[in-house]
Amino acid sequence: MTIQQVMVIGAGQMGSGIAQVCAQAGLAVKLNDISEESFEKGIRTITQNLSRNVVKGRMTETEKEAVLKRIDKSLSLEDASGVDLVIEAAVENMKVKQSIFKQLDEITPPHTILASNTSSLPITEIAAVTKRPEQVIGMHFMNPVPVMKLVEIIRGLATSDEVYTEIEQLTKKFEKVPVEVNDFPGFVANRVLMPMINEAIYTLYEGVASKEAIDDVMKLGMNHPMGPLTLADFIGLDTCLYIMETLYEGFGDSKYRPCPLLRKYVKAGWLGRKTGRGFYDYELEN
Ligand code: CAA
Ligand code: NAD
Repeated sequence: MTIQQVMVIGAGQMGSGIAQVCAQAGLAVKLNDISEESFEKGIRTITQNLSRNVVKGRMTETEKEAVLKRIDKSLSLEDASGVDLVIEAAVENMKVKQSIFKQLDEITPPHTILASNTSSLPITEIAAVTKRPEQVIGMHFMNPVPVMKLVEIIRGLATSDEVYTEIEQLTKKFEKVPVEVNDFPGFVANRVLMPMINEAIYTLYEGVASKEAIDDVMKLGMNHPMGPLTLADFIGLDTCLYIMETLYEGFGDSKYRPCPLLRKYVKAGWLGRKTGRGFYDYELEN
């Protein structure tokens, strides 16, 4: 099968980046969101990223326009009726994802592959609500999508070898590096990364050091490009909490207990960069 038409669900920071790399690879993209405002914001982000590529001489203005032309607005899942692949990047919530996949199973043609960009939720459980679990797979892009090379590819219990190979080849077409991972909570990326971020939040909560000091230790001492609290704000504190909850529930091990300070910030609506406030303050972009 040649994948030519894709729907990306969720036009947030991940979905907009995924739509951009799909369109840059020549695919026709339907970018779907429940909110028109979120769609418009996503398109503005993509336009800014592409404009920067033009300024840097990596792309011509004509190429930029061609990429943008390949992205269509969608506010209804029914628009998935003709696509070869769906990549879902809505919120990190099992109920939301299962509801989307159940609908997609009815709407899309039998050959369509259904992928999720979930950070941590079991692919097998998402696949179980469909009648095509062999065609459901995890495609975990990293943030910011246009820059980061890794895509963790997660096999659900029933994912077929054919579908795995198809997605692996597509990832290479995106000029990204596929890494195969089995279906366990948090996969590899967030099983390792998120407990470190959670621990950094505990060190702040317990008054071990200031937020700036914690970030400096990890930036200057471990050569991390961003300190863990800056990175948490960048990822989104709601997403960080959802991932910690998945690890905590999935393994039943108290070492994954989300820090109460993380819960408090999420309850306050301080979700990080995307809401203008998290551990740090930000000017809201576009
Ligand atoms: N979108 C698109 N491009 C971006 C960007 C964004 N949000 N942020 C930065 N860039 C681009 C810049 O435009 C710049 O491109 P050029 O080479 O064309 O100039 C390039 O990235 C480098 O940016 P900067 O020079 O401004 O800054 P930097 O050197 O500090 O790099 C960074 C920025 C790449 C984001 C770097 O700080 C970094 O690697 N941070 C860590 C990111 C990380 O850990 N990501 C994984 C998060 S976890 C995850 O994604 C999984 C999950 O499930 C939660
Ligand atoms: P986000 O909050 O920036 O965007 C989510 C978008 O999904 C919003 O625009 C929202 O309107 C839309 N949405 C919500 N419910 C929807 C539905 N039912 N149908 C269509 N659209 C819907 O979130 P994000 O950071 O882009 O994360 C999206 C997914 O990607 C999550 O599963 C997250 O775990 C995963 N992920 C996030 C990161 C990260 O660093 N933020 C990295 C890798 C994977």
